[in-house]
Amino acid sequence: MTGLESGCIRLEDLAKQVIGADERVPVIGGEKRRYVNFDNAASTPTFQCVWDKLHEFMRWYSNVHRGTGFKSQLATWAFDKVREKVLKFVGATPDEYVVIFGKNASEMINRLASRLAPRDGRDVVLTSVMEHHSNDLPWRRRWKAVHVEVDEWGAIDEEDLKRKLDEYGPRLRLLAISGASNVSGIVNPVHKYARWAHEVGAEILVDGAQLIPHRKVEMVRDIPAETIDYLAFSAHKVYAPFGIGVLVGRKENFLAGAPEHVGGGTIDIVTLDEVEWTDPPEKEEAGTPNIPGAVALGIVIDLLMEIGMDRVAEHERELTDRAVQGLKRYPDVIIYGPENGDRWDRLGVITFNVKGIPHGKLAAMLSWEAAIGVRNGCFCAHPYVTRLLKVSREQMREAIAGIRSGDRSMLPGAVRISFGCYNTVEEVDYFLESLDKILKGEIRGEYEQIRQTGEYRPKNFAVNFEEYFPW
Ligand SMILES: Cc1ncc(COP(=O)(O)O)c(C=O)c1O
Repeated sequence: MTGLESGCIRLEDLAKQVIGADERVPVIGGEKRRYVNFDNAASTPTFQCVWDKLHEFMRWYSNVHRGTGFKSQLATWAFDKVREKVLKFVGATPDEYVVIFGKNASEMINRLASRLAPRDGRDVVLTSVMEHHSNDLPWRRRWKAVHVEVDEWGAIDEEDLKRKLDEYGPRLRLLAISGASNVSGIVNPVHKYARWAHEVGAEILVDGAQLIPHRKVEMVRDIPAETIDYLAFSAHKVYAPFGIGVLVGRKENFLAGAPEHVGGGTIDIVTLDEVEWTDPPEKEEAGTPNIPGAVALGIVIDLLMEIGMDRVAEHERELTDRAVQGLKRYPDVIIYGPENGDRWDRLGVITFNVKGIPHGKLAAMLSWEAAIGVRNGCFCAHPYVTRLLKVSREQMREAIAGIRSGDRSMLPGAVRISFGCYNTVEEVDYFLESLDKILKGEIRGEYEQIRQTGEYRPKNFAVNFEEYFPW
């Protein structure tokens, strides 16, 4: 039982449950249109039923741990229950795994990068060109990071992966790889990669930021070698945008050593000379945690488990196929990564360009002509996007020189649409119709680029945000 309103536990009802689902936003010409959010890979909205349940919790809000008052005890119980729900949701066991809360996936990966100790001289972390910067830069900073290449489709080059596992095997501490790409939507076969990493004595981290909202995840497998050791994700990408990040990891690796952040809650006893650290997860969570954020995540997990992640995946596949088929009708549209699901499983994350239209301009037109929210640029995955777009070294040098002189107008990039489980077939069709009009030149605005930011804006058109959100 979730304790949620029954109107919230059927996937078909979620579109109506999105907070702000009916908000109308301005488009050029003066009228307002219902906003279509195709920017879910960046962040997701929440649902009314989640908000209502969180509101119910807030009556009992109090700081957790060591409070003797009833509210503190209830809040502690609710907060700790979220850890149980997370473990269940990702198929991990409480005896072997610990759930650590922080603020987002980036922070959790940074924390793992600092907490993981080089073992038996193993000082190399294998990551990949596909990664979001958050699963690349933390490893570069603290470890010898080696990048696995991608193939011409943007999938992990498995020959290169095997070669590097072979080459660095005895020095390899971790394979840090995304569960699914935030650019091409490719879903990686992480259990196979876990087996390969374990065969050379390394562990595996799956960056689950994109995978968790869209696919069922089972960290622990019947075949032990295929088990995932660490998983990081962000609640704001899974309908709980209240500032929680999660790291699920092997408990044994957090027992020894000092936590990265120290302070209240991390110790059992402190003298002026000595500190006795407490057990994980509290040891790793200095200070008062984000209690409502965690509770909201727990509520969403209940909701998604009730709906079923397979149902979520099925619905999103339908949206994705429809959008990809629609986009493929245009010879000038280039879709990056797999166009169909016959070689890879893929998410509803579709990155594309239209020949002859700058990515920033197309994204601006979708917003200001049709009220469709998308994202453009390199999506915090510059090495990957530049590979997919086949950007030359010369072009990259020019772009870097531009940035250094305060001009971002030459940044390469693409447009990305990304679906959540609440998006509808009608919204996909509306997007395709809107794109069709743009490609036919049926637009009302004139657009200019702002060199400092690289953004495109409609000329002679201003909005007053205060009108929408008085501040
Ligand atoms: C694959 C992937 N990893 C990590 C992150 C970082 O997530 P956050 O910004 O919540 O830290 C993102 C965000 O887009 C992502 O898509």
